[in-house]
Amino acid sequence: MNNFGIAIHGGAGTIVRKKLTPKLEKEYRAVLRQSIVSGYDILKVGGSSLDAVQSAIVVMEDSELFNAGKGAVFTHDETNEMDCSIMCGKTLECGAGTLLRHVKNPIIFARTVMEKSEHVLLASDGAEQFAKLHNLEIVDPKYFHTKRRWFQLQVVKEKETETETTRAILDHDGDNSKHGTVGAVALDKNGNLAAATSSGGMTNKRYNRIGDTPMIGAGTYADNRTCAVSTTGHGEYFMRLVTAKDVSDLMSYKNMSLKDASNEAIKKLSAIDGSGGLIAIDKNGNITMPMNTPGMYRASFSNGKQEPLVKIFVEE
Ligand code: GLY
Repeated sequence: MNNFGIAIHGGAGTIVRKKLTPKLEKEYRAVLRQSIVSGYDILKVGGSSLDAVQSAIVVMEDSELFNAGKGAVFTHDETNEMDCSIMCGKTLECGAGTLLRHVKNPIIFARTVMEKSEHVLLASDGAEQFAKLHNLEIVDPKYFHTKRRWFQLQVVKEKETETETTRAILDHDGDNSKHGTVGAVALDKNGNLAAATSSGGMTNKRYNRIGDTPMIGAGTYADNRTCAVSTTGHGEYFMRLVTAKDVSDLMSYKNMSLKDASNEAIKKLSAIDGSGGLIAIDKNGNITMPMNTPGMYRASFSNGKQEPLVKIFVEE
C-alpha cells in the first residue's frame, strides 16, 4: 500500500501543564483527535490530500478552542478578521483570503479561490463578494463573538485581571492570546501533498494587520517534489523568513531530510527571536512537528498506525 498520512496543528505558544486545567486539556485533545480522524478517514478510502486538510481544518474552525473560524481572536476595533490559505503540491495551485469578516469557514473560501478563480489571494469586501457568488456560508459577525476571545482582548487591551469564572482559561491563555492558528498537511495514496492554514491572526491587531497565514510560502507551502508545510506562531517572523517555502527549498537545494530542513527553519526563527512551530510531511509520508515554544497543539496519523498521536507539550 502507498504511504499516506496527515498532521495538524492548533497553535504553538506558552502552553504548560500547570496552566492547562485537566478539563480544558481534555477538550483540546478531543477536538484535535476529531480533526485528525476526519482527515485520515478521507485519505484511508483514497480521497485527496486537499479534501483531507480541508476537512481537518473545518473541524478546528468550528470549535471555539482555536484561533480560527468560530474561535478567531478580536482586533483592536473589536471585530474579527480572518486569514486562510491552501496549496496543492501536485499543481502548485493555491488560494488564500485575508480580512474575512463574515465567512464561516475561511478554509473553504481559500479552496474556492484556488479552484474557481484565476487569482491566489482575495481580500476584504471583494473577497466576501466572491464568497457570496460561490454560495459559501456567510454568518453575522456575532457568530465569531466568543466570551473567551472577548476577555482575551480586554486583558490584552487594559491589562485587567480576570474574573473567577474565566481564571482558568485566561491563566492558560496569557501569552497564548496572540496565537492559536490551525493548520494541516497531508499526503494521499496518489502521492499528492497538500497544505492549509487558517487563523484569526493576533489579538488586538490594528490597521488591518495581515499575518503569515494567507502568505503562500510563509505560512503554507506544498510541492509534491519535496513536502507540505503549515506554520503557527508570531506571523511577522515567518513572513521575514518565508519559512514554509524555506523548508521545501532546504530539501530541494541542500538535499536535506524533512526533519533536518524543518529543524533548520525553526533554528532560523529562534535566531531572530521569533516564536512558534510548524508541521510538515514529505513525499514519502514522513512527518515532523518542531517548535521553539513550550507547547503546540498537534496530532499526526499515518497509514499502518491504529490510532492518531495527539500531543500538546513539547516534551511529549
Ligand atoms: N501565525 C498567525 C499570525 O501571526 O497571524
